[in-house]
Amino acid sequence: MEKKPLKITETVLRDAHQSLMATRLTTEQMLPVIDKMDKVGYHAVECWGGATFDASLRFLKEDPWERLRKFRDGFKNTKLQMLFRGQNILGYRHYADDVVEYFVQKSIANGIDIIRIFDCLNDLRNLETAVKACRKEKGHSQIALSYTLGEAYTKEYWMETAKRIEDMGADSICIKDMAGLLIPYEAQALVGALKENVGIPIELHTHYTSGVASMSCMKAVEAGCDIIDTAISPLALGTSQPATEVMVETFKGTPYDTGLNQDILAEISAYFGKIREESLASGLLNPKVLGVNINTLRYQVPGGMLSNMISQLKEQNAEDKYEDVLKEIPRVRKDLGEPPLVTPSSQIVGTQAVLNVLMGERYKVATKETKSILLGEYGQTVKPFNPEVVDKVLGAEKEKAITCRPADLIEPELNKIEKEMSRWKQQDEDVLSYALFPQQAIDFFKFREAQQTKVDPDKADYENGAYPV
Ligand code: CO
Repeated sequence: MEKKPLKITETVLRDAHQSLMATRLTTEQMLPVIDKMDKVGYHAVECWGGATFDASLRFLKEDPWERLRKFRDGFKNTKLQMLFRGQNILGYRHYADDVVEYFVQKSIANGIDIIRIFDCLNDLRNLETAVKACRKEKGHSQIALSYTLGEAYTKEYWMETAKRIEDMGADSICIKDMAGLLIPYEAQALVGALKENVGIPIELHTHYTSGVASMSCMKAVEAGCDIIDTAISPLALGTSQPATEVMVETFKGTPYDTGLNQDILAEISAYFGKIREESLASGLLNPKVLGVNINTLRYQVPGGMLSNMISQLKEQNAEDKYEDVLKEIPRVRKDLGEPPLVTPSSQIVGTQAVLNVLMGERYKVATKETKSILLGEYGQTVKPFNPEVVDKVLGAEKEKAITCRPADLIEPELNKIEKEMSRWKQQDEDVLSYALFPQQAIDFFKFREAQQTKVDPDKADYENGAYPV
């Protein structure tokens, strides 16, 4: 067989610590090892986007843009990749196109090479602006299919969606299996079908949550998958990705041999091994997330969604309702057009299911987000909504439902946002931090100013800022 070296995207700087340790790795913890990581020959290092942006501002009091620039300085030979939630960017609402375009422009200007773009409903209209902007900035745009199971999600559905993604001009496709639902022989069938239909490279992103991920990767690769996402072993498995060294060894001596050097990987592994030990000791890394959670396969619900649900029930002293809520989740999902369960649809479905059970009557109370989804404000779902639920939740408001691309109704907002925060602006990128997380950004700007004035107290302007933190 002809040689077809498998490419590896390393996730330790983004998804691995997001999945295992609430995204708490600091830039200082990561920088010492990137010189070594740069020597490996990874296809890419995923290091930005997702929850890293929010966590940097909110918990670490770090400028996410500064982190990206430091990565760019250190990674001289390796492509940097980020995760981008379509028209939501990294936030939780739909933004106007001018904000999306500006965010893409600045991400690439600060060092990102590959942008992985997804939408929680797989409504490709929500990805158009980001993909176009990425092309304009000469970045690699990858569109991710949010993988899920359900009646609507047939092989034909995935093949047709993949074809449309290729037609949109994406440079590659990712199968994004956030819950670890893709079992090995399904992975083989799915990748095989996509490979027959599209010419652009296919990457598999999965999570170890249900215990099958490395087998799924293996079958996917045998079916022609070009790139897989893995995490260096100390921060692999559990809710994270398959281990890099294991997958590299698996394909050694085969046509898929990655050619990556295990000695360099061992050095990187030793570095993160210390972080793993420290994080276990401090409790930041909970051993619970390192095991296999077979409930994700039984209920087809992402692990994170299950733990959210348990804490919501605990708050209400209603832990005995766990099984009822588990049964309610697929019903709510059907009512809402059977969306994949990924941020933010996973939260919307999960919270509504909890409410339906706790109130003793379905949709007696509906969240604002449930209303929004039924109004079409998140985009189009793969299946129609349950008309009875629409009537009950929206009543006369259902006249306001939209069918267009939601961002078509959002006026440009960049100028307005910039005016609101101009007092704090020290770099162009600050406008975007504020656009996405206004409260967290302001807190961070205040912190930053206090730090700066501490360094040079003569310049402190206590009238207009420089708050003690
Ligand atoms: Co992931």
